[in-house]
Amino acid sequence: MSDERSVDVDALGLGLGPLRLEDLVDREAMRGMVGSIEQVFGMPVRIVSNSGVSLASSSREAPLCAMINEEPAGRRACGAIVSEVKRLRVTSSEGTTHGCFTGACYRVVPIEYEGGTIGRAILGPYLPPAAESVPDTLLAIEGVDPARAAELLPHMARSTEATAETVAKHLVAVLDVILWSGHKALLTSKMHIASIRESYRELSEKNAALEQAYERQQELDKLKSNFLATISHELRTPLTSILGYSEMLVGGIAGELTGPQLDFVQIIHSKSDQLLKLIMSLLDLSKLESGTVMMRRSDVAIGAVLAEAASTVAPVATKKGVTLTVDAPADLPLVLGDPERLRQVFVNLGENAIKFTPTGGTVQMVARQMATEVDGGGDEPGMVLLAPLRQMVEVRVTDTGIGIPTAERDKVFDPFYQVDQSSTREHGGTGLGLSIVKRLVEAHHGTVHIEGHEPTGAVFVVRLPASRPSSPPSHGAISVRFA
Ligand SMILES: Nc1ncnc2c1ncn2[C@@H]1O[C@H](COP(=O)(O)OP(=O)(O)OP(=O)(O)O)[C@@H](O)[C@H]1O
Ligand SMILES: [Mg+2]
Repeated sequence: MSDERSVDVDALGLGLGPLRLEDLVDREAMRGMVGSIEQVFGMPVRIVSNSGVSLASSSREAPLCAMINEEPAGRRACGAIVSEVKRLRVTSSEGTTHGCFTGACYRVVPIEYEGGTIGRAILGPYLPPAAESVPDTLLAIEGVDPARAAELLPHMARSTEATAETVAKHLVAVLDVILWSGHKALLTSKMHIASIRESYRELSEKNAALEQAYERQQELDKLKSNFLATISHELRTPLTSILGYSEMLVGGIAGELTGPQLDFVQIIHSKSDQLLKLIMSLLDLSKLESGTVMMRRSDVAIGAVLAEAASTVAPVATKKGVTLTVDAPADLPLVLGDPERLRQVFVNLGENAIKFTPTGGTVQMVARQMATEVDGGGDEPGMVLLAPLRQMVEVRVTDTGIGIPTAERDKVFDPFYQVDQSSTREHGGTGLGLSIVKRLVEAHHGTVHIEGHEPTGAVFVVRLPASRPSSPPSHGAISVRFA
């Protein structure tokens, strides 16, 4: 056989231990081999492992042996021969022959593999071709009928020593092939198991590391939010004083200012105001991220919230020459939420829409009622019809401005993300508005997404679940226009 056979299996760390015949052979192949030898040569064969396990044997017992086994003395004598054969020390790889009281013999050949003996093949019992009479050793067994013995003797398997040796050699050669393929299969499956074990171990290690990293990340996030909240708070206090004093200076409380002095103080005031807004946004974001934001929930009429938000941003729209309109139908369902926080959502969206829309453009805030399926209605076709519907209030903030490319529509909700830095330098802002909007809407169990507007512009779609108030809403339609 090839050199491959001398694989150092233990060096692979597979824990195979000493090779055992019963682990290596495919029993089906072994039975097939034993059956074909019996068929071709009429010779019974049995394969036994080192530990005494019989792995394959001829199906048919010789009639003479069957007759002997019917008698107690015959059974004892037969058993003694079988155990002698089993215990026989076979030193040569050629094998050895052992005689029986019937005149028949057994040929015992060692099964060797990887330099060691792992079992034996036993051929027989067979009679030499010349044996014609029943031997005295058989007749001496109590209860054996000589006439029947003489009648059955010719039915015993027959073989010369030379033929038995050739059959044994042939058997060992076939066994070698069976063992080699069995060994290969065993190694392959053990290696497969070992590699799966190794991959599993690696995966478990990586999982544990990931879990640790995730926990650490969460801790860091919390620390960051707390840090931001503290810093923002500490910055806000002195900034409020700067704003207050600069306002007093502009108002002339500390005496009349000269033209350039007034200009400088007004710049100080407007920059401080910008800084205060930024700090307030940071504070809001950190509170929303750490989940410590306070919500005062009540039934809110969205039409009124939109009108208020619009009137807050209307001066900027008017100054820029952008038309701003609000439309909400009568008896729009109420929304359970914090009116101040909801106002903040639409002020942010309105500010953006006006900021990114050129003079002559339009910004519309339109509310309507809609129904959506409640999540978890099931995937089956029938379930769609049965899924309960939830009443929602949808607000679309539409502008005719520069629009937002499809690829950017998710990213703009990330803190500090701005689509085009150069245009933002022109428009101002820090990129926090939309991240606050998204978190506030989600805190109200709502959703926000962006759609395009033809021919140009963006549509921010906010959907908020309607509340189930004790009394139905009763308010008129709202329609406001700032131009
Ligand atoms: N209506 C819009 N049309 C076009 N682009 C928009 C619109 N709204 C938002 N964007 C884009 O999304 C970015 C993020 O918006 P966001 O409101 O978060 O930040 P900002 O307006 O730049 O700054 P801030 O709101 O903090 O003052 C904007 O910089 C802009 O690039
Ligand atoms: Mg903004």
